Amino acid sequence: MKFRPIRENPHIYTDGRRLYTKNLIPGQKVYGERIIREKGEEYREWIVNRSKLAAAIKKRIKEVPIKPGDKILYLGIAAGTTASHISDIIGWDGVIFGIDVAPRIMRELIPIVKDRKNIIPILEDASKPDKYLHIVSRVDLVYEDVAQPHQVDIFIRNIDYYLRGGGYGFLAVKARSIDVTKNPKVIFRDVEKQLREYGFRIIDVVRLDPYHKDHAMFLIQNK
Ligand SMILES: C[S@@+](CC[C@H](N)C(=O)[O-])C[C@H]1O[C@@H](n2cnc3c(N)ncnc32)[C@H](O)[C@@H]1O
Repeated sequence: MKFRPIRENPHIYTDGRRLYTKNLIPGQKVYGERIIREKGEEYREWIVNRSKLAAAIKKRIKEVPIKPGDKILYLGIAAGTTASHISDIIGWDGVIFGIDVAPRIMRELIPIVKDRKNIIPILEDASKPDKYLHIVSRVDLVYEDVAQPHQVDIFIRNIDYYLRGGGYGFLAVKARSIDVTKNPKVIFRDVEKQLREYGFRIIDVVRLDPYHKDHAMFLIQNK
């Protein structure tokens, strides 16, 4: 198997079909993904149907502005599927502050972060960003995937608190969580308008179908 970095990010790899990151914790599988060893390195498959960020990359989102050493605020980290690949990319000099409101799912994250010490799990409600001011520092990127009616407000509020000037934001929007009766296209247009009006630069918006039905990924840059 021959792995080469993708054009959008030198720390994400492809074999021509699938996506991979280099495993920061050799031998550790996080969600049943395949691990392939080549020349002393371990490549962990990043499954597009399991991760909205992987799907956005597969759908050729313009940029993936994540690099070694970055500080990330992750809202809706759940069991760490996507976060584990971000953790591979940022390496030991980076950190992910992982917020989730559900104790049951956070429990599944604990065995993973035992070794993957660049993820700090925080059991809190992302709609109250002041609750984690004592732990979270200023970050280079905010990633949000909470599938909630007020997901855009939650994103903006956390950016106000934590994202550095010129920093980036990924927002995974689930249209059905905002309004089941509306056409997803209309919802995505409204979200884009709201983000633009707030003053963010919209770098790209990609639909995640067929990997994640009625979802879109927004990539913005802060003022
Ligand atoms: C679709 S899942 C996230 C999947 C994950 N991002 C991944 O790709 O591996 C959504 C998560 O958001 C969490 N969530 C929902 N509302 C939240 C809130 N207000 N604050 C923090 N987490 C929230 C849920 O508990 C759930 O774990």
